[in-house]
Amino acid sequence: MFWEVFCAVLSASLVHLQSSAQSCTMSQGLCVGTEVFSSNQTILPVQLSAETTKVLFFTSQIHTISKGAFMNTMQLERVEFIGTPTANIEDGAFQSLSRLKVLEISSTNVTLLPPDAFKDLSKLEVLVLKQNKITSITKELFDGLRNLRELQLQHNSIGSIPEGTFNGLESLQMLNLSRNKLTSLQASLLSGLRRLQIFSVSGNQLQTLPEEIWGGELTNLEEINAQGNKIRVLPPDGHNLKLEKLFLDSNHLSKVEEDMFAGFPSLKTLSLQSNGLSHLNPRVFNKLTQLRDLNLSHNRLANVSVSGLGNLTSLNLENNRIRSLEVTNLPSLHTLRLADNVLTTISGAAWDQMPNLGALSLGGNAWHCDCSLMPVVTRVLRFTVTDRPTCDSPQRLKDEDVLTQTEEMLCPAGRDPTQSTGDSIAATTGTVPCPLARTSQEKLLTFT
Ligand SMILES: *[C@@H]1O[C@H](CO)[C@@H](O)[C@H](O)[C@H]1NC(C)=O
Ligand SMILES: *[C@@H]1O[C@H](CO)[C@@H](O)[C@H](O)[C@H]1NC(C)=O
Ligand SMILES: *[C@@H]1O[C@H](CO)[C@@H](O)[C@H](O)[C@H]1NC(C)=O
Ligand SMILES: *[C@@H]1O[C@H](CO)[C@@H](O)[C@H](O)[C@H]1NC(C)=O
Ligand SMILES: *[C@@H]1O[C@H](CO)[C@@H](O)[C@H](O)[C@H]1NC(C)=O
Ligand SMILES: *[C@@H]1O[C@H](CO)[C@@H](O)[C@H](O)[C@H]1NC(C)=O
Repeated sequence: MFWEVFCAVLSASLVHLQSSAQSCTMSQGLCVGTEVFSSNQTILPVQLSAETTKVLFFTSQIHTISKGAFMNTMQLERVEFIGTPTANIEDGAFQSLSRLKVLEISSTNVTLLPPDAFKDLSKLEVLVLKQNKITSITKELFDGLRNLRELQLQHNSIGSIPEGTFNGLESLQMLNLSRNKLTSLQASLLSGLRRLQIFSVSGNQLQTLPEEIWGGELTNLEEINAQGNKIRVLPPDGHNLKLEKLFLDSNHLSKVEEDMFAGFPSLKTLSLQSNGLSHLNPRVFNKLTQLRDLNLSHNRLANVSVSGLGNLTSLNLENNRIRSLEVTNLPSLHTLRLADNVLTTISGAAWDQMPNLGALSLGGNAWHCDCSLMPVVTRVLRFTVTDRPTCDSPQRLKDEDVLTQTEEMLCPAGRDPTQSTGDSIAATTGTVPCPLARTSQEKLLTFT
């Protein structure tokens, strides 16, 4: 009964700590064989029953994990220290835990780990060392961890990692180095990681990515997250047949070369938000036939052309300086975000290039509310519009809600509805027909 209540309380409080142990609930059976020590526990070793295979020290007042602390508990498969004031781990602290599969030391005051801290933990599969105060790691630290699948070192203060540190990690699938103080990564630091699928190095100070990451040496890589660094240039000849997700947001990539992503044919998600991009080569995404999600928001793009991406479902162009958008042949596009640009109109022909559009943001633009906006008004009733666009001109409609305009308001008698309104969203094919003449045809189009 006690553990039942404790586990429930614990799992609730752990959510705030974002701990990987948050799933510790009775219903999932994870507390069976688990002993939990809370803040009144001050010393190690602890007495454990022979059935205990998992032990959690949650906010326990343990300052040092001393040598031999687990000498008599060789059966343990999972050991976690979470939110403890631990500052010191002695060499040999986990010695003898030859069955250990998961070790977590997070939200503690640990700054350094002895070189032999994880020696002999040859069964270890998951090592979580996040949210500590680790400043450096020694080259030997992970030696012999040949079954390690997941290594989480995020949210520490690691400034550099010695060459060879990850050499023996032949099973590693996930490496998280996010939110540290890395300014560069050694050229061959990750060379041995043949099985690596997810590499996360967001929130550091890198100026580029290692060539082995970008250049396809790690053939199983599926996701690279390098958001929030200082990347200005990427190595040439990027390629990787499996890469599906690439996050390069909040860097300093002001230019994107034509062939920059051409070597990543499996890419499904590409995010380049907040980079100061001012120009995009119109062919830069041409080879990305599987691309579904493209985020170019918060840049300085003035004109953008996106065409022929058959699988693209979401395109985010918010917060740029777009006056002119060319869209052609985007049959799967469902969500189009255009808010906070300087668009004045959207042509009728553009809509025909996006027959599956269902959600749209349009606010914060300079909409010119004349007859040419009629197709927007008639169509958007069938979409979810996530904001409230207002007219910028003509003067008589300034600040009026675009979407509630009627035909009479937008097309006062005597105006030529086909008259060009300058900058616009255009489809590359055809001219802009008079929207009034198209009304009956539009009703036949379906937007889902
Ligand atoms: C710690 O507190 C729990 C109840 O909160 C109690 O059952 C346990 O005996 C205490 N342990 C020590 C070492 O005082
Ligand atoms: C880490 O040490 C500082 C003081 O040095 C203390 O205030 C803080 O509570 C400690 N962290 C934990 C998780 O106990
Ligand atoms: C890596 O760490 C960052 C920072 O804590 C976190 O946001 C991200 O979800 C982690 N990535 C993975 C794949 O766990
Ligand atoms: C894409 O851009 C929006 C801002 O419009 C942002 O909120 C979102 O998190 C971005 N997506 C990614 C994957 O970074
Ligand atoms: C797009 O921008 C370039 C310069 O950045 C300019 O030469 C070109 O005329 C623009 N195209 C349109 C349609 O505005
Ligand atoms: C969409 O992606 C699939 C694979 O996921 C691919 O076979 C197909 O050719 C792509 N469609 C287009 C129109 O490019």
